[in-house]
Amino acid sequence: MQKIAIFASGTGTNASKIIEHFASNEEVEIALILSNRPKAYVLKVAENNNIPAKVINRSEFYDSNDIVEELENSEIDFIVLAGFLWLIPSSLINSYPNKIINIHPALLPKYGGKGMYGRFVHEAVFNAKETESGITIHFVNEEYDEGKIVFQAHCLIDPSDGPKEIGKKIQELEHKYYPIIVEKLLRRISIN
Ligand code: GAR
Repeated sequence: MQKIAIFASGTGTNASKIIEHFASNEEVEIALILSNRPKAYVLKVAENNNIPAKVINRSEFYDSNDIVEELENSEIDFIVLAGFLWLIPSSLINSYPNKIINIHPALLPKYGGKGMYGRFVHEAVFNAKETESGITIHFVNEEYDEGKIVFQAHCLIDPSDGPKEIGKKIQELEHKYYPIIVEKLLRRISIN
């Protein structure tokens, strides 16, 4: 059995898709959902799926070892960031080397970095008049959006697409590919 923790700050549509994807897989369990926002809808997603959830605050995340201990006590093997907006501290990265991944709603290294999330990314892509964009799934390191890239998928942007339409295309790609890539990475870990 491999256990996943999902970290999310928002609506949790990617978390939902991942939960759905592994629902009938007896080898993988979504064992914990962690959020930094007490009102994030992802906590409702956790409740609806009977998944233990935890709300964290800044000081316990950055100034203590509580989260690492909790993840280890819960025997978490792999961490999936799905719209989680806080930088991951080194202590956590060192405890889970190459076992934390993130999804970003653009083709990194373009449109990454602090403050580049969600609609801000779609607006930047729109303002730059890009003719294509996409998603990036990457390992997490100490910098925002800079870890080794695992996977990218592209989509075309029509001249008539606004930030909202771009966001829709990106979300479709995320929902299609994130669960599959998580599964592939878990297989790689269990083989090693
Ligand atoms: C996703 O589009 C994800 O790529 C983005 O937040 C959204 C979360 O949506 N993450 C970032 O922008 C990270 N820089 P969700 O809560 O519906 O899964």
